[in-house]
Order: sequence, then C-alpha cells, then structure tokens
Amino acid sequence: MEGFTLLLFCLALLNNVQGDTVRDTINTLQSIKDGQIIVSPGKTYALGFFSPGNSKNRYVGIWYNEVSTQTVVWVANRDNPLTDSSGVLKLDETGVLVLLNHNKSVIWSSNTTRSVRYPVAKLLDSGNFIVQDNNNNNDPKYLLWQSFDFPGDTILPGQKFGRNLVTGLNRYMSSWNNSDDPSKGVFSYQIDVNGYPQFILRKGTFKRYRFGSWNGIQFSGAPMLKQSAITRFNFISDEEELYFSFELTNKSVFHRMVLTTDGFINGTYWNNDGKVWNLHARIPVDDCDNYDKCGAYASCNINNIPPCNCLDGFIPKTADIYGGCVRRTSLTCHGDRFLKLSGLKLPDTERSWFDRNTSLEDCRILCMKNCSCTAYAALDVSKGPTGCLLWFGDLLDIRELTDVDEDIYIRMAETEIEAIERKQSHKSNIWKPGTAFISCALFVGILSLCLTFIIYRRWKTWHKEKNKGNLERDDNVINEHEKEDLELPMFELSTITSATNNFSPDNKLGEGGFGSVYKGILNDGGEIAVKRLSKNSKQGLQEFKNEVMHIAKLQHRNLVRLLGYCTQAEERLLIYEFMPNKSLDSFIFDENKSMLLDWPRRLLIINGIARGLLYLHQDSRHRIVHRDLKAGNVLLDSEMNPKISDFGLARSFGGNEIEATTKHVVGTYGYLPPEYIIDGAYSTKSDVFSFGVLILEIVSGKRNKGFCHQDNLLAHVWRLFTEGKCSKIVDGTIIDSLNLSKALRLIHVGLLCVQLSPDDRPNMSSVVLMLSSESALPQPNLPGFFTSTSMAGDSSSSSSYKQYTNNDMTISIMTPR
Ligand SMILES: *[C@@H]1O[C@H](CO)[C@@H](O)[C@H](O)[C@H]1NC(C)=O
Ligand SMILES: *[C@@H]1O[C@H](CO)[C@@H](O)[C@H](O)[C@H]1NC(C)=O
Ligand SMILES: *[C@@H]1O[C@H](CO)[C@@H](O)[C@H](O)[C@H]1NC(C)=O
Ligand SMILES: *[C@@H]1O[C@H](CO)[C@@H](O)[C@H](O)[C@H]1NC(C)=O
Ligand SMILES: *[C@@H]1O[C@H](CO)[C@@H](O)[C@H](O)[C@H]1NC(C)=O
Ligand SMILES: *[C@@H]1O[C@H](CO)[C@@H](O)[C@H](O)[C@H]1NC(C)=O
Ligand SMILES: *[C@@H]1O[C@H](CO)[C@@H](O)[C@H](O)[C@H]1NC(C)=O
Repeated sequence: MEGFTLLLFCLALLNNVQGDTVRDTINTLQSIKDGQIIVSPGKTYALGFFSPGNSKNRYVGIWYNEVSTQTVVWVANRDNPLTDSSGVLKLDETGVLVLLNHNKSVIWSSNTTRSVRYPVAKLLDSGNFIVQDNNNNNDPKYLLWQSFDFPGDTILPGQKFGRNLVTGLNRYMSSWNNSDDPSKGVFSYQIDVNGYPQFILRKGTFKRYRFGSWNGIQFSGAPMLKQSAITRFNFISDEEELYFSFELTNKSVFHRMVLTTDGFINGTYWNNDGKVWNLHARIPVDDCDNYDKCGAYASCNINNIPPCNCLDGFIPKTADIYGGCVRRTSLTCHGDRFLKLSGLKLPDTERSWFDRNTSLEDCRILCMKNCSCTAYAALDVSKGPTGCLLWFGDLLDIRELTDVDEDIYIRMAETEIEAIERKQSHKSNIWKPGTAFISCALFVGILSLCLTFIIYRRWKTWHKEKNKGNLERDDNVINEHEKEDLELPMFELSTITSATNNFSPDNKLGEGGFGSVYKGILNDGGEIAVKRLSKNSKQGLQEFKNEVMHIAKLQHRNLVRLLGYCTQAEERLLIYEFMPNKSLDSFIFDENKSMLLDWPRRLLIINGIARGLLYLHQDSRHRIVHRDLKAGNVLLDSEMNPKISDFGLARSFGGNEIEATTKHVVGTYGYLPPEYIIDGAYSTKSDVFSFGVLILEIVSGKRNKGFCHQDNLLAHVWRLFTEGKCSKIVDGTIIDSLNLSKALRLIHVGLLCVQLSPDDRPNMSSVVLMLSSESALPQPNLPGFFTSTSMAGDSSSSSSYKQYTNNDMTISIMTPR
C-alpha cells in the first residue's frame, strides 16, 4: 500500500517534470500559472490564460486545442480581467476554484458552497470543466461545479441550455462586448418561461428574435434546426428541467453555436481541410425574423413587397404597413368560430396557457369558453396533435414559413368565417367543375384527343387573322372546343339578371373597355361585378373573347379574378370579383379622395401593380403583354390592394417571340410608348413604359395628358428631376406622410421605365428589385416624350399624331376618362 502511494507520488512528480501540458486536472496542490495549460484527455480542449483579439488583458478560458485559429468557448473571469501575467488559478481545500492576481486577491471564484473531501478540477473532452470528488467520479451527487452551467457566448454539443426549475439555475448565452472584450455584451439568448416556454434572443430587454416553442419536431420559428446528418436537437421539458441541447452524430467534427457580438446565432463546424469554421446556420435569417415586424394579427412573408399582410378577416389598423391589423368584424364571444391556418410561425406565447394532457378537441372547447382566448393549437405534433396551447390577447410575431407542420386555430366572428369559406368555395368552384366532370373525364379525354387537332387548326387561323388586322370574327364568341379548354364556370343568364336586378341602371358601376359594368349580389350573398358587352360591337366581341382566353388562366393576387362568363341568348357577360373601391384613377386624380391614399398606401399600390405585371410578363404560363395599363384599369379591393383589370387588348407571346408589331395601334393616350405609336411595335417593355407613367402619376397625383401636350407629365417630372427639385413633383395632399428619399427613388425608377428606347427600360423583375432594395440606380436619360417643339410646330394633339399615321395603319387611341 505504501509502495503504491509512493508510486503515485512519483508519477505526479514526473508529470510536473515532463511539463504541464499533459495534465487534465488541477488538484488542491497544483495550481496553474499564466503560461501553463491543462488539456483534456483526448486533446480536444485546452484551459489556460489567454488574451482575446488585440487586448492585452489576461483571461482564464477554454479553447480548442487542435484548432489552429484560437477559438475560445468559455471564459472564467469575463467581467474582471487580469491586467498582467501574474494570475494563478487554484483549487482550494473545500473545492472552490479561485483566480488570484499579483497581490493574491480573488479576481474570480466559482463560489461553490457545498464541499467534498477530495476535490479535483478536471477538463473533459466535451469541453466541460468540472469540480468533483476524486473518489466519486461520475456520481452527480459529488459534482460541485461545472463550466457548462455558466455559458458565455458559446454552446457546445451536449451542453444543456435552459433552466433547472428546482434550483433556479438559468443557463443562457450572452454575447461578448466585442472581439477584444469577452465581458457581457448587449445580446442575450435564453428560455422564457412566461406562458408556454420559448427561446428568445434579446438586445438588452428588447426581443429581437423568437425561436418559438418546441412542437416535438422543431422550433416553430426556426425550422432549419431540425435533425440533420450532422446534428440532433433535443428539447426536454419536465417537472425538474427545461432545456435544449444538441448532439453530434459524428463526434470527430467540432461543432459550436455562438451568439455573435452583432446578435446572430452562428452554427459552425470546423473544416480541418480548409482550416476554417464553416457556417451551417445563421439566425435570424431575414427581415421577417425580426420580432413582431408586422404588428398584431399580421403575417410576414419575405417574398412579398412589402412583406406584411393582415391575416384573413383582419384589416390594417393604420396606414402604416407595420402597424398591425384589427378585426374586420368584432368578436361576439359565444357565437365565434375558429379559422384554421397552416404554414405559420406560431405567435408569441408570452400570454398563453398550456396543458399536455388536454386533447385538441377539449382545447377548442376551453378556448371557446373563455372570451379572451384568441387562438389555440396543439403542443406537440410529433405523434399527431396532442396537448393544448391557448393564447390570450393579441397575436404577435407571426410569419409565413414553408417548413412548418403545425396548424393554429384563430378565433373569429362567425360571419367573418362564413365570408372566408365562401371566398374559398368560389375559388374551388372555378377549378373543380364538380363530380359530373370526373365521371365524364374518360369520355372527355378521348374526345379531347380528337378535338385537339381541330382546335389547333382553328387557333392557327385565328392567330393569322389577328396578325392581318382582320376584325371579322365568327360570331360564336367562344366555341364548344374552347369551352372545354377554359376551366371557367359558365353562369346561367337567369342567375346574373337576378343578381344585377335585371341590369338595373342603379347597379351600373361604369363603362368598361367594351361595355357597361354592373354590380351584382348572388343568392349566397357574394358580390360580383358583371361586364356586359354592348350588342353589335364587333371590336368588343374580339376583346371579350381575348379577355376570357387570357385572364381565365391567370391567378395572382394583383390581377382581378374572373369568376366566370355567360354567353346565353344575345348576352356576352364576364363575371368578376367585386372591387368595392373602384379604380385607382378615381382616387389619385380626385382632390378629396386623393387624401385617402397616403404615402405608405401608395407605395403598397405601386408594389402590388409591379408584382401583378411581373407575373404577366414572366410567371404566368404564357408571356402576356397587357397593352392597356393605366390608372383606370387598376382596381382596388376592400383593403385597397391593387388589381390589374381589363385584358381586352392583351396579347400573349409564345416561345422565343419577344416583340410584335401591329398595324392596329390601340391603347390609351398618355400611357403608350413612342415606338408603339410610331411603328406599332410592342413588347413587355411597352407595359414597362405604361407602368413608369403610372408611378409618376401616383406620386404626383397628376394625369399624363399625352405625349405632345404642353403640360406633358414626363417633361414636367424630367425638368424638376434634372433641377434637383423632386419634392415639387410629389402630390401636395400626401406631403405629411411622405418619406422623401423613398419618393425620390420612385420618381427615379419611374423615369427609368419611361426611357425613349425600349432597351433602356428595365424589365419588370428589375423594377420589382429596384422598388424593394436600396441598391444604386442607373441615371435616366431623356424620357420618351415629345414636346410641342419637337412636333414640327403643330401643338394640337388630335392632328399631331396623325403625322405618324400612314395609310395602312389604323390608330384608335382612347383619351383617358
Ligand atoms: C490588490 O490589487 C488590486 C488591483 O489590482 C487593488 O485594488 C487592491 O487594493 C490590492 N490589494 C492589496 C491588498 O494590495
Ligand atoms: C462570487 O461571489 C462574489 C461575492 O458574492 C461575487 O461578487 C462574484 O461575482 C461571484 N462570482 C461568480 C463567478 O458568480
Ligand atoms: C464595450 O465596448 C465598447 C467599445 O466597443 C466600450 O465603449 C464599452 O465600454 C464596453 N463595455 C463594457 C461593459 O466594457
Ligand atoms: C466524421 O468526420 C470526419 C472528419 O470530417 C471524417 O473523416 C469521418 O469519416 C466522419 N465519420 C463518419 C462516421 O461520418
Ligand atoms: C458568424 O457568421 C458570419 C457570417 O458568415 C461571420 O461573418 C462571422 O464571422 C461569424 N461569427 C462567428 C463568431 O462565428
Ligand atoms: C397526464 O397524463 C399522464 C398519463 O396519462 C399522467 O401520468 C399524468 O399524471 C397526467 N398529468 C396531469 C397533470 O394530469
Ligand atoms: C380567461 O383566461 C384568463 C387568462 O388565463 C383568465 O385571467 C380569466 O379569468 C379567464 N376567464 C374566464 C371567464 O375563465
């Protein structure tokens, strides 16, 4: 026995002689001084004194022993540095770790109150530095202290991150102040136990980002933190503990999560070949991750411009798009119902209640019973929905995510839900003509094979005729074969006459491109707009058909939706969704109503039109040139969202066709680009020109009177722009809500769109990008307008454009209403 003790002593002595680097422990006799380190048994981690970045201060910390760039994962005295290299780290007899400075005063202490008989401090291969009883390894009862309980800016695999509900210990991350200074910075990341527990990244006391709560599979707000080939995520929530941790599937890869000094969680792993840390996740990811970006009851979608949208049944609270939304119909409490929504990051659970043993059905009943309960959802969806989560108060911080498998049920007034259901059934009616269709499918399939050939030939002749400018059309507007192809419901004439009160003059909304438009109310209460082709109008007939063929296949929130058509008896009717706010021109050019469209709303409208147009040009099945974009053809729905309408003049381009010419120049005076008026040449760039005019009209509140009018808007804007007086361009009535730099940018983009040469105009995808970003814009050249002096001395508009008319070209240009 004595021999054994002696041997141990000699071994210990030998260790000291061989150099301190091989040790992995500190006992009560062996302190470490600045310059000495201990290394974990597998040589993964080292502990010792270091100076971060350019700092001269000394700290005790743990870093990767085998990683070439010094990467510190834990700091002992982060708030209390040593100013010289006289520091000593000691373990005292009771098991307390202390860091002493030159005059032996305590700079940092592990503050352990319990004690053990044979304390020893040990650096493990997990990166954890522990103090325990040397005779009772691995017994958690004898574990006095561990560095894993006091994280800094880094979490390592296997490290618990969260709370011990019994002892109150809160393990959370806090950023370094800067790369030279490991003291606590402004960012912290911790579990929040108000309501249903969720993980929150804060700047000071402000919430910056919510990971959301764990739903058994993932965090509702961070779907990228799922089990992967590299990492496995765990979330434990029981009576004693509430924590998150991650494990590596391949233990030989170094992996860490860092809260950076600028407030991001970086998930990185060491790439030993490149000798760099590779980033595999950086959170928050985008603008929609910013806490409560869109306000209450609004959802953020990063692909939208602007990103915020009210949930179904809610309307903007203020003109500020980030100001949140309010109910369109207030709750009645006991008559309410729940609307199920999917693909959302669940709202902030700070004001929530939860229970694991309540079923989803009981959850609904509980929520219904309490009038201040605004929504409910399941707690865990890993084995089907189980548990119950109730929200009280406003629903905050919602965003759209593609990778979420969870539903939320939002309380709404019954009438509101009925309206939403009606809207949805309208939609499905259009695309699913019904069961009769299915039973006929086989027959139709065979029939359509035979018909395809006939349709193709008809289409070819139709196409040819159009290019000839020949307006003679067969009167059977939409023939039987085309009907098959349309997937568009045909309405009974009787339905429409009763909905419009037999086309009563009281129901008339106005004159459209080729007929009158009436408001109608269907039997189920749904509102519609009916466009009625004037009888005996050959031109109108062609446009009617054109509109049906084009718009039937288009689906975009910024295009007006065609619900169906009717060609019974002598009538040619198109049935649209009803737009209660009529057209854009009725607002922007009206002295009183223009005030209702404040600056943020105008921005929304411009962005919406841009998206609709981009869809026409690029994203729909055929490339479509609208050819008659103008303020009068932009309709506004109940929430003032813009929808492009009137496709009577639209042309679709197939294959590689990018430009076409016509001898029949049609469109609206003031919106047509020069090359179209002169040569009849049109392309998607013609629409870009019209869009540019529209931007300038929306910003200025002035109508573009036409290319050779003396008060030409483009000339006016160009003059003020070159003189640097852009603020004079802006509509006086919205000046209060104006953001001048944004207005300047819009005017700039508008001018780029109305460039004389189509090649100089950006395409719509660039326009959408220009509108949403802050990137530098090219300088515009002289826009495509003609001043009266360039018009050979003739200033009367009616005779001016005749100069460009040659014998075999017709011009029918409408003057704006
Ligand atoms: C030890 O040094 C610190 C500063 O490093 C000083 O504040 C303290 O008064 C000194 N104590 C003694 C006993 O000299
Ligand atoms: C240890 O306790 C002292 C005195 O209560 C305190 O000033 C110090 O911050 C504590 N150290 C740590 C690491 O918690
Ligand atoms: C954090 O760093 C800034 C400079 O980046 C410095 O001004 C400030 O004093 C530091 N804060 C603390 C608590 O050390
Ligand atoms: C683990 O990672 C190392 C280093 O990248 C690699 O060499 C090894 O093949 C991996 N092992 C497994 C089981 O994937
Ligand atoms: C976090 O990721 C960003 C982006 O790649 C990088 O610039 C930064 O250096 C990383 N910070 C840390 C501490 O890993
Ligand atoms: C929840 O259900 C489990 C198993 O059915 C049961 O053991 C537990 O006591 C229940 N908890 C509560 C709070 O009712
Ligand atoms: C509804 O729930 C809230 C929040 O839990 C609670 O304060 C209130 O007493 C409940 N009301 C009723 C009628 O149960």
